[in-house]
Amino acid sequence: MRKNIVAGNWKMNNDLADTKTLVSELVDIEKTSNAEVMIAPTFTNLLEASKALKNSEIEVVAQNMHFAKNGAYTGEISATMLKSVGVNTVILGHSERREYFNEDDALLKQKVDTALENGMRIIFCFGEKLEDRKSGNHTHVVKSQIKNALFHLPEGSWKSIVLAYEPVWAIGTGETATPAQAQEMHLFIRNLALEAYNLSVADDVSILYGGSVKPENAKEIFSNSDVDGGLIGGAALNAESFMAIVNAF
Ligand code: 13P
Repeated sequence: MRKNIVAGNWKMNNDLADTKTLVSELVDIEKTSNAEVMIAPTFTNLLEASKALKNSEIEVVAQNMHFAKNGAYTGEISATMLKSVGVNTVILGHSERREYFNEDDALLKQKVDTALENGMRIIFCFGEKLEDRKSGNHTHVVKSQIKNALFHLPEGSWKSIVLAYEPVWAIGTGETATPAQAQEMHLFIRNLALEAYNLSVADDVSILYGGSVKPENAKEIFSNSDVDGGLIGGAALNAESFMAIVNAF
């Protein structure tokens, strides 16, 4: 049975003091939903956040990771380093990584393999750009992003995969995919998993929507049968709005 998940991607926001404040505000707000909750602070604040949230229902996850085990990769962070600070889940393939850091499907495939080898769970992000949507190419783009990075995996690995559909044109723009657009794409994605694997993989994988999710629109987006949660950017930086989205389930 797939899970409902709401994850906050803090991106490059919040220093250590801000992180401590936001984390303590989050735990003070009652969680009334059945959704799993995650936050992704920046690397330097993962240890502090995971210590502070150790006995809470909020999991601390990373925004990125390098594909190599270790070695001469100045400025990079490995899976074992993440695990050593209590982080067992990593976001991979975010459109900002693809766009500004040239992360392509082949590189992401390597990162996926490394994360899984280290027993980590992955929130794998993908999504089309505005021009793809306008030209009617959006399903084709999404299919190739998923297929190229994930469809080599054995069926058993899929218990560690969460998918996150984030149309690039909806990220940070205030423009959200309509609930119908989200449902249509999520169903398309679930059908891809059905074709490539089987009904149990397709049924069990959680597919999150990301892109301008707010307390005002969360309920409507989450009410779609193939939308299993959200990956939240801007609205995750405020405890009340993030928990309102969590509690929209
Ligand atoms: P916004 O919620 O700010 O649009 O960001 C979405 C996102 O990129 C989450 O990863």
